[in-house]
Amino acid sequence: MSIYFASQPSSREIEEMVEGFPSWIEVDLDAVTWNLEAIRRRVGVEVIPCIKANAYGHGLVPVAAHLMELGVRRFLVAKLPEALELREAGLSCGIINMDPLYSMRSYETVVRLGITQVVYTLEAARRLNEAAERLGERAGVFVKIDTGLGRVGVRYDEASGFIEHLTRLPNIDLEGVFSTFMEVPEVDRIQLERLLRVCGELERRGIDPGTRSIASSYGILHHPDSYLDAVRPGITLFGVHPEEGSEVFMELRQALVFKARVEQVKWVEEGEPLTYNRRFTAPRRMKIATIHVGYYDGYPRGLTNKGLDLISGEYRRVVGTVSLNHHLIDITGLEVKPGDIVELIGRGKNNVRRIAEIAGITPYQLLISLNPMTPRVYYKNGKPIAIEPK
Ligand SMILES: Cc1ncc(COP(=O)(O)O)c(C=O)c1O
Repeated sequence: MSIYFASQPSSREIEEMVEGFPSWIEVDLDAVTWNLEAIRRRVGVEVIPCIKANAYGHGLVPVAAHLMELGVRRFLVAKLPEALELREAGLSCGIINMDPLYSMRSYETVVRLGITQVVYTLEAARRLNEAAERLGERAGVFVKIDTGLGRVGVRYDEASGFIEHLTRLPNIDLEGVFSTFMEVPEVDRIQLERLLRVCGELERRGIDPGTRSIASSYGILHHPDSYLDAVRPGITLFGVHPEEGSEVFMELRQALVFKARVEQVKWVEEGEPLTYNRRFTAPRRMKIATIHVGYYDGYPRGLTNKGLDLISGEYRRVVGTVSLNHHLIDITGLEVKPGDIVELIGRGKNNVRRIAEIAGITPYQLLISLNPMTPRVYYKNGKPIAIEPK
């Protein structure tokens, strides 16, 4: 067991802590294991999980520590502070940082902490080389190649020249090259060809491109010819399909459940308006539960008058406006009292994909909006084994 999990409170202590939480998120690490294994079986190459945005809301450090126990060697992050958090937690994994750097101090930080930096300009490569020189270390890089997405990266037709320059810098080690699909099948095919052409040109120049990667979850599901040396799943690792219909390719298990306790229970009379801007008027005498979770917690505002919470075994509709810290549900006919548990995001009719759809957002937006301050409780074999924050 890793130091991270070995230094956690006992299951009993965690259960007692949960009793005091107004809201919390449960993460089933066995589901993450299942998804990783499903991806591994499908691709047969290295999996470099993308754990940006607080591991898609699941909690950066516990997810990384768990994946490391399963043999994952390196991760992709989007922000330098994410890389620093992994190091501060004592995780010695490989980290590929996509955050652009603007100061020598930042370049020195990545070199000092052994973080692999994504580069695609000579200026960045030179500054990284200089930082490595100053510290007497070597700096690992991944080169982002723009094969057509038009977001960031060195253009595919300039990439081999650029990489040749980069590899001449004395303190730089090229660890890999990667690109991202546009997610339009006919364009994706051309992008893959472009990336492979760059790698071919590099080999002709006697340069080893290192790890070649283009597939994120979408590529894993749709383009079996795109796995190359490594794939970079994010959302599928957490058991959420990135789009409608891709369930046929791989069976995934959703890792996350979002729960809260009822704050207040009240009766309202027929015709009584409720919540900001009078967005709901009771059509009859109704029993209402107020939940202390709103869009600050990541419960989308788009669920106003539409959300579905599971309470006392029934899915009950949100009534009125979802505000910063609250939303209301209709609990007429149910025996509910303050402190009772309500499931805001679950695995049934209120699963991540369904709730995102009702709210008019993508499942990515739903997950990454979950407030990092909400406690996360991690389960293995049905038992709580870790908690953040402690
Ligand atoms: C470069 C890169 N690779 C991989 C991913 C993971 O994507 P997904 O969550 O769709 O698998 C992302 C996420 O946006 C990314 O930016």
